[in-house]
Amino acid sequence: MSTQTERRQVMPIQAYTSEDWFRREQRELFSRVWSFACMDEDLKQPGDYHCVQAGHTPLILLRDRENRLRAFHNTCRHRGTRLLEGRGNLGRAITCFYHSWSYDLAGRLIGVPHEREAFPGLDKSCYGLHAAKVATWKNLVFVHPDPDAEPLDRWLDDFPQKLGPHDPERLVEVADVLYRVRANWKIVIENFIDGYHLFHLHRVSLGDGDFTQQKWQPAGRHWTFYRPLKPGIYHNDQTLPVVHGVPSNYGAGAYVLFPNLALYETATFWLTFHVLPLAAGLSQVNVRTRANAEALQRADNAPTEIKELPEHILSAKGPHAAMRLNLTDIHPLRSDNVMLEDIHACEAVQHGMQSSACEIGPLSTYETSLPFFQRQILDFVPA
Ligand code: FES
Ligand SMILES: [Fe+2]
Repeated sequence: MSTQTERRQVMPIQAYTSEDWFRREQRELFSRVWSFACMDEDLKQPGDYHCVQAGHTPLILLRDRENRLRAFHNTCRHRGTRLLEGRGNLGRAITCFYHSWSYDLAGRLIGVPHEREAFPGLDKSCYGLHAAKVATWKNLVFVHPDPDAEPLDRWLDDFPQKLGPHDPERLVEVADVLYRVRANWKIVIENFIDGYHLFHLHRVSLGDGDFTQQKWQPAGRHWTFYRPLKPGIYHNDQTLPVVHGVPSNYGAGAYVLFPNLALYETATFWLTFHVLPLAAGLSQVNVRTRANAEALQRADNAPTEIKELPEHILSAKGPHAAMRLNLTDIHPLRSDNVMLEDIHACEAVQHGMQSSACEIGPLSTYETSLPFFQRQILDFVPA
């Protein structure tokens, strides 16, 4: 049966609930594929850095003195200490806090305290930081722990040719929201690619969509999707203008760059939806929305402040981050908020899967993307 017509769950349930499986995925999947790191604009100046977790491999992404992006393994060549955390600017060098070995932004070891008496005969040229691989597609930056990894272009396959008319490089960021979801990362991605729940869970919040006309196609290991609006419906958003070059009756394009970066676009915005697995039953989702620059002027019309964050939202930044989020006392299923509805569903699936009686039943013709996605994972982490 081809991957596009298969209609049964192929992933075992313990893959969503067991910490052992989670560790295997970290080692055998996320440490062996290209990982989304950040947007190119997040590293503006020489010395700007961003720590990235590729499975359980900690990496440093930085902009060097020549303005090039570089990636290194985040481990000191002296005793292995993790060198950096979070993000920031390094100035001219990375200095280990433990014994102050220091490395330049090309990763060369340039300073060893007490070098002459403490390390007689040391050849510093042998102890540069271990390189990792970095590559950019549009304004999205990816890293790979293996410096000899296959090129990002090859990994993307024909994904770039199957995208909508949006150009994220010409858009500006208008919202950056971080969510915590008490569900396995695969449940979050499977919810994203499930075309069946659109008719039901989102019948009000996405009421303008013509879901009977939805279509998905694979692109290498990745997933691409489009669904139009109902006939006669056009975007008329009070806060976000229609994106230049995109027709105002554009429905929704959705994409998953395997394994855990999703993209979503409508007539008025384009966003990255990055799912970071934290534990078998816990994920973090970072949603960053981009729109035409005029959206910044219209930000005056947008609610600017979220009085009380719903419990799943860890942080919300940007002039349009408050859009439809000031709804704290409303149950997610009555919130008319797609993300809160989806989080509620993902957590309910995770909870249901804890039952010893749980078995996954037949899948609909609108869910054939699920076994396709699951088979991509099983190629790396066999059952
Ligand atoms: S572990 Fe980094 S300087 Fe000692
Ligand atoms: Fe959804």
